[in-house]
Amino acid sequence: MVAREGLVVSGQASRNGAGIVIPVDGPAGSGKSTMAKIIAERLGWDYLESGALYRAVGLKVLESGGDPDNPDEAARQAGALRFECRKTPDGWRNFLDGEDVTDKLREERVSDSSSKVSAVPAVREALLAFQRGYGRERGALLDGRDIGTVVFPEARLKFFMDADIEIRISRRFNELREKKIDFDQEKMAANLRARDKRDRERTTAPLRPADDAIPIDTSNKTIDQILEYMIGEICREYGQLIDLR
Ligand code: CDP
Repeated sequence: MVAREGLVVSGQASRNGAGIVIPVDGPAGSGKSTMAKIIAERLGWDYLESGALYRAVGLKVLESGGDPDNPDEAARQAGALRFECRKTPDGWRNFLDGEDVTDKLREERVSDSSSKVSAVPAVREALLAFQRGYGRERGALLDGRDIGTVVFPEARLKFFMDADIEIRISRRFNELREKKIDFDQEKMAANLRARDKRDRERTTAPLRPADDAIPIDTSNKTIDQILEYMIGEICREYGQLIDLR
């Protein structure tokens, strides 16, 4: 793993946003990745889909023939992870051991495996330093489940996105269809519900809004409406410090 040690404090910042991290948390299909990516683009900042880290661990366990329910196996794979989220001409792509695994990471078997390995405290611990390395050279948007509660609790501005479960399921259908990834509709919906429950109820870093997060219900809003709102909040908090494109 390309480890970037050290805690970033989201306080003082230069014009490229160095020192600022904006957490965007929420459950599957809430729209957090879509929004975080667009905003990172508008600001010229870094972006990390932290779920891809857990998906990468889940994939490694599956590919090595291991059992995602075995915590020791998951912790071993997390400790040896070589992962990178890089901007390419095709957008933000995720690399595992140098291979572009962005599409593979979205497969249902990986979604399910990732949610199991992510409940293991040693896995979360192993991935923490990597995530905390963001925001040092330029500002960064990180999306996930616990970015505002555990990874960057000191961030001055955080968002928590959510939406009605049926709407989230139908968004995920469309996403997988667009990406031409094979899936079974019923299994996928059951998987998403199970993942939601597991993510919210686990003991370590459960999915929940930070006390000071700004909640956004995206059920009946367009991307443009959400973007306008989020940019407004970002300008209110950091307007003096940032350049918007
Ligand atoms: O895209 P989607 O919301 O479906 O999932 P994801 O963000 O790629 O995350 C995949 C799984 O990783 C989730 O179900 C969580 O169990 C886990 N995860 C986590 O525990 N903490 C994070 N910060 C991000 C993801």
